[in-house]
Amino acid sequence: DLPWRRTRDPWAILVSETMLQQTQVARVVPRYLELMERFPTTAACAAAAVGDLLRCWSGLGYNGRAVRLHGAAVTVERVHEGRFPRDLDALQRLPGVGPYTARAVAAIAFGARVGAVDVNVRRVLGRLVGTEGLRPIAIQAMADAAVPADEPGRWTHALMDLGATVCRARAPRCDDCPV
Ligand code: ADE
Repeated sequence: DLPWRRTRDPWAILVSETMLQQTQVARVVPRYLELMERFPTTAACAAAAVGDLLRCWSGLGYNGRAVRLHGAAVTVERVHEGRFPRDLDALQRLPGVGPYTARAVAAIAFGARVGAVDVNVRRVLGRLVGTEGLRPIAIQAMADAAVPADEPGRWTHALMDLGATVCRARAPRCDDCPV
């Protein structure tokens, strides 16, 4: 039960995914809630100074993420006229948004049938079906093909949770694995 799992607002999903890069969930929760309260929309964020955004970021580090997040809000407002882009190419052209984050937003916010592959999901797939020697593009195709038609966002979260709690990097709990 995490605050960014109670919404399908693409801005909220982008904020959470950006904060969660290199930062633990427990540290992100209060910063996420504060940022979303102060900047609930891309318009609110784009209208603010980068420095205001950075104040919500204190303690999280990797401040470049906040600068790029602000750039993404500005791009949505100026280039996309305030409408959050839905397709992967446009998402990936937002500052700070790479293949993983674009797919996480597409799946969670827009219900797109795409697999968001980060280091944890790659490990889960590797252990389940074997990805040794496969190129990233083949792993991506495998992850995309596995996404069910209904509720791709829940699937995305489920794979993340499997990686975080059962299929852990060290000491995986294979006896408790639901797969
Ligand atoms: N790590 C990356 N994205 C996440 C999410 N949506 N929930 C929990 N941990 C995450």
